[in-house]
Amino acid sequence: MRVTVSRKAHFNAAHRLYRSDWSDEKNQSIFGKCSNQFFHGHNYELIVNVTGKIDPITGFVIDIKLLKNLIKTEVEDSFDHKNLNVEVPEFFKLNPTAENIAVVIYNKLISHISDDQSLEIILYETPRNFVKYSGEK
Ligand code: NI
Repeated sequence: MRVTVSRKAHFNAAHRLYRSDWSDEKNQSIFGKCSNQFFHGHNYELIVNVTGKIDPITGFVIDIKLLKNLIKTEVEDSFDHKNLNVEVPEFFKLNPTAENIAVVIYNKLISHISDDQSLEIILYETPRNFVKYSGEK
């Protein structure tokens, strides 16, 4: 019996999507408003799902306090109120799209999750646009 435990979190961050090897016109046509050279912010909503067996002693799949603290130290402390392109090393050379941010978050959290548990990241960049990543299958 495997159960999914979910924790929601939130961070505000600025970004710019662009490729330096493309013209301003091409960046604008592909990335639209997200290529604004002066950056802009998003209110990111994060859902972290951990799926695994219930521990018969505690009744927990994972202690939600541990998951909460893990998200705080690995994600919120690194990303919240930051300019992702300029201040977060993972994005110095990686476009901070929602897709790439979800993969980076997954990679930061997965080493803290037990081998017999699975992890899924759902990241909302806007209320209507969101991505999911649960590792390579
Ligand atoms: Ni954007």
